[in-house]
Amino acid sequence: MIQKPKGTYDVFGSYGKNIKYVEKIIEALMQKYNYEYVRTPIFESSNLFHRGVGETSDIVSKETYDFIDRGDRNMTLRPEGTAGVVRSYIENKRYGEASCPIKNWYYGPMYRYERPQSGRFREFYQFGVEVFGSSSPMLDAEVISIPVNLYRILGLKGIKVKINSLGDTETRNNYKEALLNHFKPYLDTLCSDCKERYLKNPLRILDCKVDHDLECMKTAPKIIDYLTEESRKHFDKVQEYLSLLGIDYEVDPNVVRGLDYYTNTVFEVEADIKDFGSNNVLCGGGRYDKLVEILDGPETKAVGFALGFERLLNALEKEEIKLDVDTLDIYIIPMSEKEQAYSYTLCQDLRMNGFSTDIDYMNRNIKGNFKQADRLEAKYIIIIGEEELNNKVLTIKDNRDKKEYKVKEEELIEFLDEVMSEH
Ligand code: HAM
Repeated sequence: MIQKPKGTYDVFGSYGKNIKYVEKIIEALMQKYNYEYVRTPIFESSNLFHRGVGETSDIVSKETYDFIDRGDRNMTLRPEGTAGVVRSYIENKRYGEASCPIKNWYYGPMYRYERPQSGRFREFYQFGVEVFGSSSPMLDAEVISIPVNLYRILGLKGIKVKINSLGDTETRNNYKEALLNHFKPYLDTLCSDCKERYLKNPLRILDCKVDHDLECMKTAPKIIDYLTEESRKHFDKVQEYLSLLGIDYEVDPNVVRGLDYYTNTVFEVEADIKDFGSNNVLCGGGRYDKLVEILDGPETKAVGFALGFERLLNALEKEEIKLDVDTLDIYIIPMSEKEQAYSYTLCQDLRMNGFSTDIDYMNRNIKGNFKQADRLEAKYIIIIGEEELNNKVLTIKDNRDKKEYKVKEEELIEFLDEVMSEH
């Protein structure tokens, strides 16, 4: 039997319903925030990610799905959404649009060749936003508020917002120097990857999953102590705006993020679920004021975030939050073959009038049909027998309180509209 690739999963049943429910909430939320939906290709030139996400990030150095297409081009399945959205912003000259800032949201599959484990997949879905054209700290706080409000709407509890600042280029250069001095005496104790990071990008050492518990990691200088005055001011303002939005946060100098493009604000939102491990990191993001230039666009300030869909749904499941997913409005039961044609057209009429409707296709007996209506969690059952067919008066059963109604065919829609709005 052919099996699905390692690190992927199939969607069906209640998981599929939950996904669709959360997608709808996200769409509605993005409309409230006035963000515009964008979509970019799932594969892009490999170069985009090498230059965009950064050669020294784990994602690019170890985890990309690269392939050569039939025209000998180096292609990569996108490991994240930011680089593609930035490419699209530049290529479509969106920096010329007057309605600045350009606020985008996206949703789709991402691919990373990681070691699969709970909450870590090789194909996973992200919802994210990328905002271009403003350095306002109001936007940093707004972007952080999006996942926080989404988690609130969905009822997730125990959410922790961790923020940090990676400063500007000057901050980074001074800090790099400090890190090199700090780690020099400990070089022999670091893993081979970190030895390389020491030479190429010492900041990445702090993100190492192998050396994480070494004493020299804990005593390493903190970037927050190296912020230039401008970066410090920006960071203070972000915190002010977060407080105005009623968002609790903590400043955590260990949030450095695994991608190379960040400047100034970075953040992660964590769930607080026991034994959830890395699953607890529900989302992350930050400012990336240099990336548009790195990818050959004009100087453009930008900020964004992305959240993992699987982790969000896992967290909802762990916290036993039942989503209010839509169930079937009406299940139609023809009593025999004679009523089938009428029932079949009634089913279509009801669907076209806005009710989710289904019908027995299996010639079940009445008991089997009631069971099926329960399985589908139908709100109402319409039973069509000889009498109903002749008199055009339908028998409708409320499948929750089991009350029965007799309704004339011509009054059916009005009746259903009324009872549905009551529930
Ligand atoms: P990231 O931290 O690499 O950031 O990913 C964001 C989120 O995607 C993570 O917090 C996690 O929930 C989810 N995620 C990442 N890898 C996996 C995986 N293998 N399996 C399941 N879920 C995963 C970014 O991707 C940046 N592009 C975020 C950003 C947007 N920064 C600025 N704008």
